[in-house]
Amino acid sequence: MIAIDGPAASGKTTTARLVAQRLGYLHIDTGAMYRAITLRVLEEKIPLSEIDRIGDLAEKTQVHLEPFDSTNKVFVDGRDVTREIRSLAVTRSVSLVSSYQAVRDVLVREQRRMAKRGGVVLEGRDIGTVVLPNADLKIYMVARVSERVKRRKVEIESTGEVVELARLEQEILERDRFDSSRKASPLTKARDALELDTSDLTIEEQVQFVVDQARMVIGQRER
Ligand code: CDP
Repeated sequence: MIAIDGPAASGKTTTARLVAQRLGYLHIDTGAMYRAITLRVLEEKIPLSEIDRIGDLAEKTQVHLEPFDSTNKVFVDGRDVTREIRSLAVTRSVSLVSSYQAVRDVLVREQRRMAKRGGVVLEGRDIGTVVLPNADLKIYMVARVSERVKRRKVEIESTGEVVELARLEQEILERDRFDSSRKASPLTKARDALELDTSDLTIEEQVQFVVDQARMVIGQRER
């Protein structure tokens, strides 16, 4: 079991996907699960302050990740929402929804169930600290803000949406601040995690680093 955590746009999803592909593991994007619940909250027009109603909705919503083309397709109650969960509206509300313990309880339970079979790469904010404290390898991925903003801009613009660099930077920093300072499972580096700064690395280099580390711990376990 590999845990990858880190702030927004630090390279987790790309890295987790490719590492999983190389090791023949299953990639589980836990952020996509929080986004899926947030999408349902917005669709139901539940005010973001109504914690109990959001908790109830999370409890009765089926979030399902399906491996597809080495990424995750995301389904809520059987409906494919893979694209919708990346919208700016979801991105702007997801941190608040994710800060509610009731939402986390539901999703963490599901994440642990999926991880039980082993051979998984989970990525998120609390994987090494809360979801899988006994993961074989924990990576805490960081990158310079300017780099993260650039990467996210390219990603967003590839979907046809337009974003202003300064606003994007402000939103990324705000989300990181909120995720790091919340009471329920804040974003923080696990004590036994390896920190990987991807600012000046190519995707190939960051993937290779994690794969090498994984092979080392897997090798040690099998010896
Ligand atoms: O892709 P990006 O790094 O921007 O975000 P994401 O991984 O899709 O996660 C979106 C949001 O979900 C984060 O900002 C957190 O508020 C929340 N999240 C969380 O609380 N716990 C996780 N394990 C994963 C995501």
